[in-house]
Amino acid sequence: MNRDFNILHFNAIDSTNAYALENIKTLPHNTVITADEQFKGRGRFERHWVSDSIENLYVSIIIKPEIPYRQLPIVNFPQLFSVVVAEAFLLYGAVPQIKWPNDVLINKKKCAGILGEAAFDGNVFNGIVIGVGVNIADNPAGRLVIKQPATSLVSETGRHVEKNDFLANMLDIYVNRYSAFCKYGFAAIHDVYKKYFAYIGKEVSLVSGGQNISGRTLGLSDCGDLVLQTASGETKNITMGEILWKTS
Ligand code: BTN
Repeated sequence: MNRDFNILHFNAIDSTNAYALENIKTLPHNTVITADEQFKGRGRFERHWVSDSIENLYVSIIIKPEIPYRQLPIVNFPQLFSVVVAEAFLLYGAVPQIKWPNDVLINKKKCAGILGEAAFDGNVFNGIVIGVGVNIADNPAGRLVIKQPATSLVSETGRHVEKNDFLANMLDIYVNRYSAFCKYGFAAIHDVYKKYFAYIGKEVSLVSGGQNISGRTLGLSDCGDLVLQTASGETKNITMGEILWKTS
């Protein structure tokens, strides 16, 4: 495992993200918290992340950049990790895609999810926690009702994959991309993100800030927003939300 990291492992925990946030003040930069199982795995938008399979990867990384937080691309860190996970998938022969902003898909099914949470004490910035859940060998949708198409790396590639090997590859990719990303923000990953972005020129629906929005994707802005043309011809930059799965 990469020596730049302080690794903490739990057999079982409520949520690696929750643990990271609770302990962020005392844990150093690049602390990596893993668990074999999470009782209360957290997903985006208060959703639950099914985390009952020892075969899958549940990991949170504490990031405490040295530059002032106002100069940091905080909101884009999850997008950085979508690229990191996509590039790790490539190493196992999978063809990854990104569903804006940061779901990683294989064959149009979700294989990894990323939850970024910033830690503030009032105005004091303590760091960022990036939680990554990767379906390595077990696809929870196969056993449980998950309202989205899901898959696992092993079922898509047919290869044997060790979750710790996958994590080590992921961390290497993250380390190699970290400095340029902190300096240039989304611009540092724009081209590679676009390569995996599965929705250019497609009709999509989103929920953003509690509003339903539909339109055709024109691309991505310099800061990672989704650029959309609505039915009325208006161009909109969407900063938050997510592309919804098509129901038909
Ligand atoms: C999503 O797609 O909704 C994001 C899912 C993020 C899940 C990971 S698993 C490790 C870390 N700990 C958590 O409680 N959540 C993240």
